[in-house]
Amino acid sequence: MIVTIDGPAGAGKSTVARLLARRLGLPCLNSGFIYRTVTFLAIERAAAENCPLEEWFKQRQQVIDLVAGLELSFRDEPALDENDSGRTLVFVGGREVSGHLKDSEVTSNIWRVADDGEYRLGLLELQRSFSREPGVVAEGRDMGSVVFPDADLKFYLDASSAERARRRSGEGSSAGGGVTYEEILEAIEARDRRDRERADSPLVIPEGALMVNSDGWTVEQTVDYLGMEVDKKRSA
Ligand code: DC
Repeated sequence: MIVTIDGPAGAGKSTVARLLARRLGLPCLNSGFIYRTVTFLAIERAAAENCPLEEWFKQRQQVIDLVAGLELSFRDEPALDENDSGRTLVFVGGREVSGHLKDSEVTSNIWRVADDGEYRLGLLELQRSFSREPGVVAEGRDMGSVVFPDADLKFYLDASSAERARRRSGEGSSAGGGVTYEEILEAIEARDRRDRERADSPLVIPEGALMVNSDGWTVEQTVDYLGMEVDKKRSA
């Protein structure tokens, strides 16, 4: 069974997808981590070559090679206690890179990969390879529209920008450290515009997707709701 969860930045897709996947006994594809990993490796290679990042990205063939050769895997780390939802560890070959993927330098340079149609195309097969039997819960911006258009069940997980900014500032996450609520809200709205307006695979509501607005809902309530819809679909 293929379940997709698309939606804007900060709507809680990563946590909801991980918990739903665990509940359904399916692997979870966090496609944002793929874009983050490519960006992180590019930053690392540019630094090793003493090359300004912008210049490094101008050599398109090295980005295409990096994308084509990406050996990526995920591991679901169980929760430490009942207040913890666990985490996804990301490996390139045998090397764990998870700790670098939320770096602000990575986040602010993802567009160099995510806004490019040719690089996105290069990442399609890798993303689809996660859907082998028994299936996958895939989350991102174009899972139901481009990567898995024939998914069994598609969700569009949304929340108002004010709610998303409130959650993020409450998290004290990397995006929240020392940053005001207004700055977080502004960054979220800028990211929404960029995701919606890009030419290739813009963030859209996929055809046939179930709209879920999680304003005022806890993560557990959201996972319960999605799980109920999956059960309905399975028994239909
Ligand atoms: O979900 P995230 O914040 O980790 O995603 C990081 C960036 O990657 C996001 O700004 C847009 C891009 N992205 C994308 O273009 N397509 C996806 N399927 C997932 C993420």
